[in-house]
Amino acid sequence: MAKIKQVTAREILNAKGNPTIETTVTLNDGKSGTASCPSGTSVGHYEASELKDHDEKLFLGNGVLKAISNINEVITPAILGLEATKQQDVDKRMIELDGTQNKSRLGANAILSVSMAVAKAAAKSSLLPTFLYLREFVKKEGTVIKIPTPLFNILNGGRHAGGNSDFQEFMVIPASSKAYSESLNMTVNLYDSLRNTLAQNNMTTLIGDEGGFAPALATNRQGLDLLRQAIQSTQFRYGFDVFLGLDAAATNFFHENKYRIKDKAMQLSPNDMISFYEEINKEFHLLYLEDPLAEDDWEGWSKIAGALTEQTLIVGDDLTATNPYRLQMALDKKAITGIIIKPNQIGTVIEALAVVEVARQAGLKIIVSHRSGETNDDFIADFAVAVSADYAKFGSPVRGERVAKYNRLLEIEKEIKSLG
Ligand code: PGA
Ligand code: ZN
Repeated sequence: MAKIKQVTAREILNAKGNPTIETTVTLNDGKSGTASCPSGTSVGHYEASELKDHDEKLFLGNGVLKAISNINEVITPAILGLEATKQQDVDKRMIELDGTQNKSRLGANAILSVSMAVAKAAAKSSLLPTFLYLREFVKKEGTVIKIPTPLFNILNGGRHAGGNSDFQEFMVIPASSKAYSESLNMTVNLYDSLRNTLAQNNMTTLIGDEGGFAPALATNRQGLDLLRQAIQSTQFRYGFDVFLGLDAAATNFFHENKYRIKDKAMQLSPNDMISFYEEINKEFHLLYLEDPLAEDDWEGWSKIAGALTEQTLIVGDDLTATNPYRLQMALDKKAITGIIIKPNQIGTVIEALAVVEVARQAGLKIIVSHRSGETNDDFIADFAVAVSADYAKFGSPVRGERVAKYNRLLEIEKEIKSLG
């Protein structure tokens, strides 16, 4: 048991060169936790709001000094002296202080950095690794403690790569039977193979926001084809050792009720778009399909799961925004079979855990995800293990802010083994 004694927050840069907040919470037993908040590039409309300064003279308007002053002036005085292991109390206090639906008053970035730092400090104070400490807040029945299957975004597209394709993420997914360290080894091989495949096709091997290659693609289908070629040039077997997945992030190419993609000359209705996914699915047998439709296209979403779920996980990200109301809507419409969990879409650790719980009760697969604008914070690796997530999506196996999470999972893999 230890009480919150001090909170300090500072402005740092994230991996895209944009300011964000790093907060340190110190307890009266001397233990402390430091956490920083990531930012999205393709931010969904239903996400909690990241408070920025909009002062064009500083960091192109992206500064977070107002959010930091909210931590110093509003949050800190209200949480000093609270018991750090009572994460519910701390998060509830901040939610009440903010008082808005989307945390726009104090900023989800301000609130989440404090929330995560409190959890890390409380874990240290409890002499537990963060994943084991957080597990105390999870209903454990029917779950096992394991490393989630990683989803590796090794070909970047859409807004993460200057609009080289419509779809945002082209992923390789190791068979879930593989040990995590084996999956990493395979993916490093596949990443190298994709580099060679691109070079052989006279395509660029420069990379995008999440560390995946970012070639200019003639069609979205070509992205999947390149990944398949890359797999086939290794000893790993497509559809056995490794599968393919997509995050279409379809809100970005949906305008006036129509989808526009390079693969088709005509604009597509929601039904046409679903037919397109069926078409590529016949060829590539996608294991995973995230945001295939736009966040407000409920007409499409209510049909796609029925059309594709037999072999493909249909996952909401912008659709559900780690928000309990959006999740309920998606469940009512039977729109999804999996959900992306990003703590910064909702703004506190406790609320993110609560969304996981509802989703799991409903039988959805849980995917814990990074953002494109990450920091080197590895909290979500611990969070993913704590909630027994089915999958973890942390980008490519390159770049510091991505490998920080993958390396933390390696450490946790060892820690789990030592638990026996
Ligand atoms: P973002 O994208 O972090 O840029 O919002 C990630 C995703 O859509 O999954
Ligand atoms: Zn997404």
